[in-house]
Amino acid sequence: MEFRRIQGLPPYVFTIIDTLKQQARQAGRDVIDLGFGNPDIPSPQIAVDKLAEAAQSGRNHRYSASRGIPNLRLAVADLYRRRFGVALDPDSEIISTIGAKEGFSHLMWVLLQPGDAVLVPSPSYPIHIWGPYLAGADTRQVVIGDEVGHAAGAAYVDSVMHMWELGWPKPRVVVLSFPHNPTTATIELYDFQRLVDWARERDVVLVHDFAYAETAFDGWRPPSILQARGAKDVAVELYSMTKSFSMAGWRVAFLLGRPDVVQALAKLKSYLDYGTFQPIQIAATVTLNEAQDFPLEVNAIYESRRNALCDGLYRIGWPVPRPRGTMFVWARIPENYRELGSIDFAKLLVNECDVAVSPGVGFGPGGDGFVRFALIENEQRIGQAVRNMRRGLPQLRL
Ligand SMILES: Cc1ncc(COP(=O)(O)O)c(C=O)c1O
Repeated sequence: MEFRRIQGLPPYVFTIIDTLKQQARQAGRDVIDLGFGNPDIPSPQIAVDKLAEAAQSGRNHRYSASRGIPNLRLAVADLYRRRFGVALDPDSEIISTIGAKEGFSHLMWVLLQPGDAVLVPSPSYPIHIWGPYLAGADTRQVVIGDEVGHAAGAAYVDSVMHMWELGWPKPRVVVLSFPHNPTTATIELYDFQRLVDWARERDVVLVHDFAYAETAFDGWRPPSILQARGAKDVAVELYSMTKSFSMAGWRVAFLLGRPDVVQALAKLKSYLDYGTFQPIQIAATVTLNEAQDFPLEVNAIYESRRNALCDGLYRIGWPVPRPRGTMFVWARIPENYRELGSIDFAKLLVNECDVAVSPGVGFGPGGDGFVRFALIENEQRIGQAVRNMRRGLPQLRL
């Protein structure tokens, strides 16, 4: 039997390291897991309490509204007004999705069909490449270069414009995601504005996956693409509660912005699902309204972990850029180990250092010279990981 749509999907390379990690743990070794970006910080207590309360009522056990209950959409509109100064109509410009990943994947079905082209970042969060692929589109990768921080976002915008001019047929969708997983590249509103102005002169939809909307450090707060003038003519944005509110398992995110695109996804989803379990939607509503500062608490934790890891790596002779956002550190493989490539280097880290990371190639060929650390263990454990790497990577000191 040929499973036509999934045939081209490569094996998930992260499972290679995960299997090694499991084996090492079964052998009694204490592997420090900085691999999968699965948040370890508990969700807000108010969300848990509201969920438990709402789940008691039989009224909430029925199918819910696929586009999200009205109060939830209202809470998101309030959040965007407060946080970004952006006014959104909860009826036509906001829908709820079952996480950003689900929203993104189905949005690609709505926007693309075989023969259509799309520009996506490389390296990339895997669904940014495979979502368009599953929709049958021609996925063209645009390199997020060697710049770091805001300069990387600016360079990506330049490259998108350049690639669009070169290619044929003209891409109808541009995917972007800042702060960026895995590279931790960021962007400034000025560069969003350049892209929006550019897209408005062409028939291009900008899809911004804003999974790390709140996850940023050193007092910096990431801009929303919807803050750019005229953005609602061309752009949609995915805002997720997964990382900002540490609610990964709950599957709550939103698509916001250009109304016809939002409504098109709502239409497809009305055929596909009945939305998130209503008690979860109720709990998410209360959390957005009443736990507004929770993302800042989450950030303080990730920021200390980032400092522990970056300072530690610097001390052992492996300097890496200090990210302004996301919950990751993107580290170029040290020169003396570079020829191993990211999979073998990540295997070495498990085998010699008891540290699990994600090999950069898992995010596309552009990532092969790197590994990604996820900040999902506490500072003491990160400190231990650094000591293990000092011991297990003797060539760092050559
Ligand atoms: C860029 C990006 N988008 C989406 C997601 C998944 O978000 P959600 O849990 O809302 O599906 C992640 C999670 O790692 C991510 O890094």
